[in-house]
Amino acid sequence: MSQAPRRTVVVLAAGEGKRMKSATPKVLHPLLGRSLLGHVLVAAGAAEAEQTVVVVGHQADQVREHLAEVAPAAVPVLQAVQNGTGHAVRIALDAVPEAAGTVVVLNGDVPLLRAETVARLIGEHESASRAATVLAAAVDDPAGLGRIVRDAGGGLARIVEERDASAEERAIREINAGIYVFDVSSLREALGKLSTDNDQGEEYLTDVFGLLVEVGSPVGVFVAPDADETLGVNDRAQLAELRALLRDRVNTAWMRSGVSILDPATAWIDVTVSLEPDAVIDQNTQLRGTSSVASGAVIGPDTTLIDTSVGEGATVLRAHAVGAEIGAQASVGPFSYLRPGTRLGRKSKIGGFVEAKNSELGEGAKVPHLSYVGDATIGARANVGAGTIVANYDGVRKSRTTIGEAAFVGSDTVLIAPVEVGPGAYVAAGSTIASDVPPGSLGVARAQQQRNVEGWTAKRRPGTPSAEAAERASAGDGEVSEAE
Ligand code: UD1
Ligand code: CA
Repeated sequence: MSQAPRRTVVVLAAGEGKRMKSATPKVLHPLLGRSLLGHVLVAAGAAEAEQTVVVVGHQADQVREHLAEVAPAAVPVLQAVQNGTGHAVRIALDAVPEAAGTVVVLNGDVPLLRAETVARLIGEHESASRAATVLAAAVDDPAGLGRIVRDAGGGLARIVEERDASAEERAIREINAGIYVFDVSSLREALGKLSTDNDQGEEYLTDVFGLLVEVGSPVGVFVAPDADETLGVNDRAQLAELRALLRDRVNTAWMRSGVSILDPATAWIDVTVSLEPDAVIDQNTQLRGTSSVASGAVIGPDTTLIDTSVGEGATVLRAHAVGAEIGAQASVGPFSYLRPGTRLGRKSKIGGFVEAKNSELGEGAKVPHLSYVGDATIGARANVGAGTIVANYDGVRKSRTTIGEAAFVGSDTVLIAPVEVGPGAYVAAGSTIASDVPPGSLGVARAQQQRNVEGWTAKRRPGTPSAEAAERASAGDGEVSEAE
């Protein structure tokens, strides 16, 4: 039985990302459901490495915190001063003296790299038993990037940074993607020989290639099949370009797997979302986080779902939903807002201008128009009339409201929690319901004449901002300011 190859991944993420002009470290900027660094770490998974080292520097604490969340097994290593990519890899390897076999180096700001490309790059490097292999790409505009300089036989001679390149070298359109595979001992040896004799006075990882060529070690170039995979992010305009490229990649994959996307240019689907064949995504729709859409459901147009699941055959039209569960054949929208903890049963309905939070609707229950439903449990086939408000908050505490199976709540009702409307009960339109309505009864509560209870706020809500405002108002009463 052959042993599994031993590998270490090093991700470079210590740089400042100056051109982002951001308080957020560059590698933590989001791109369709993951940070830039998160995307790179997922691609790095193809290496099946024994250990993953992430070199952190600028805003190291933020990057470390993020790593603990998304890749707790990765080891952050601090590069206090950014003396170049070679220096960064040297520090990373110092932290893992036990590293053996292959070292895969990835740039933290190259998020479109595919796992399968990483696998092929490693495969070619290891089967050719090379000391080093660089991922290259042929591009139209190589500005700012390191160039691949080949010898007369087409082999790699060295990699030169643009600022150190001759005019001829600058004309080369084959660029260094900043992604490499090395044999660890060859790498350690060459890193020990790096100089800072260049335009930036830094230790360049790229110089390792020239050094290995000098001592006759085998090095090679792996040309990326899709140059887009090698694009880096330096500013927010590039981040937007990459976001559009990733959107197209994600949408094409879903369409090939049987999802209808009516306007792929305006459907923004996080890489973390899951969709079933025959789901329909209409235009101008964002599906984010852990959202999922089952077969036959129609989402959009103009809808945002965040961490929300949608069951088979449901429709969600012009809605914003966060942390909700929408049951099979349920209908939501238009202009509905579902907040965390909302669970809609089969064939239930949340209609126009309805907001729901932490509430359950049983099978076939309906809240069709202009309502707020907070902390409520609504039974199967209950109907909640237009303009109903579930008043779940008394200014201090939130309480639950229960509406029983097949209950009927008339329009313009306020239900003051905690309160229960029993199964089959009715509430007359325009009622303010503060006590329970027993099963099968009609609750009517319409104010006869307005009554003001003086000093109520001071007595019943002491210490709240409302009580303070009331006190200020009454202190001001009848006061006459003195003329100066
Ligand atoms: C580097 C390559 C260049 C290549 C390009 C691809 C070198 C010398 N040049 O250039 O040939 O075309 O990437 O994007 O390697 N970093 C650290 N510590 C440091 C310096 C950098 O962790 O001291 C990290 C950065 O955060 C970044 C990566 O290394 O993730 C690349 O650094 P960057 O400064 O962007 O290198 P480039 O000049 O773009
Ligand atoms: Ca860069």
